[in-house]
Amino acid sequence: MTDISPPRPDLWTLDPSVLHLNHGSYGAVPRRTQEVLAALRAETDANPMAWFRSVADRLTASRLELAAYLETDPAGFALVPNASAGVTAALATVPIAPGSRIVLTNHAYGAVKFAAERFARQHQAEVVVVDVPLESDDDTVVSRISAALNGSTAVLVVDQISSATAMVFPIRRLVEACAPDGIPVIVDGAHAPALLDAPAGDGADFWTGNFHKWPSSPRATAGLVVAEKWRSETMPLIVSWSEYDERLPERFDMQGTFDYAPWIAAPESLRVLKELDWPRRRMQLSSMLDEGARVIAKALGTSVPDVVNPAPTMRLVELPFPGERTPDAGEAFKIRVSRELKAEITLTGFDTRIFIRLSAHAYNSLDDYKFLAERLPSVL
Ligand SMILES: Cc1ncc(COP(=O)(O)O)c(C=O)c1O
Repeated sequence: MTDISPPRPDLWTLDPSVLHLNHGSYGAVPRRTQEVLAALRAETDANPMAWFRSVADRLTASRLELAAYLETDPAGFALVPNASAGVTAALATVPIAPGSRIVLTNHAYGAVKFAAERFARQHQAEVVVVDVPLESDDDTVVSRISAALNGSTAVLVVDQISSATAMVFPIRRLVEACAPDGIPVIVDGAHAPALLDAPAGDGADFWTGNFHKWPSSPRATAGLVVAEKWRSETMPLIVSWSEYDERLPERFDMQGTFDYAPWIAAPESLRVLKELDWPRRRMQLSSMLDEGARVIAKALGTSVPDVVNPAPTMRLVELPFPGERTPDAGEAFKIRVSRELKAEITLTGFDTRIFIRLSAHAYNSLDDYKFLAERLPSVL
């Protein structure tokens, strides 16, 4: 294994008596960012009028920093509370004719599929789910999805890094596959910021991603990147005073009376990542996690599925699950792991298989995965 920099749990405020192996679901905010956030909220309540007068300028400064981090054009970058909001705003923008098809894959995040279903119902359209096998290489992904596209496809909604399978999708190639028929592409990049460089740079019509996952920004901080041709018609989900602002970012800034402090504090976490030399550390975490996942799979007598392009800091380990494979059984298992092992993990399901989806962030070390490997068999 490559040399690994010492873990830095000191930069977070995570309970040290708990093993935190699921950064991927809700992130975790570093101490410094929490302090900035707390100071902003204190300022709000010291003088709400002065705070709200200052918000517009501070949001602009924050947005510019976040857009620069993504290496994207700030004129096409809007703040949204989460990737769910980003996908919903994008689906509300693309034309969906009666009888047309909204195409997704079987890796799509459940709530994103619900969003597609809602828009399909509203427009008398149909949701088509493309089956992409777990161990697919990029050629297979592109050919499976391309085969489902036709003249009646209204939009392709595709993960950049899937939640259930922690797999990186070849977005640029999919955008190219959609271009000849003018099929708009919405990229669900919820996990992409800080895991992929320039994640919004593949030419999709819409891209959304969370800063509250891997960049560790305060929760309810996400971005929506909109291609130039859609910018004038893309509207925030909440109608507020900037309804008639011609500029996309400013239109999305104004969400009525709202807690803007997380959006303003978000760049502080980017500075923490910079100090952690994040791109190098991300590589180290990736090889550490390869080993950690193997150790856990060995202890369980299972395997690490052969995901061709795994997310840098997430891995799946197959669970034997001798019992029922229902969501309730999975939830009960997570609660047992939390109570009995004081470890926080998440489970995902794909086809008929159940996986532990392990995460690694700068506060984790290989010992964390070894600890889980030793104890997990006792709660199966
Ligand atoms: C692939 C994917 N899409 C969308 C989401 C939704 O993100 P949020 O809860 O921030 O809206 C998630 C959350 O985990 C996700 O993993």
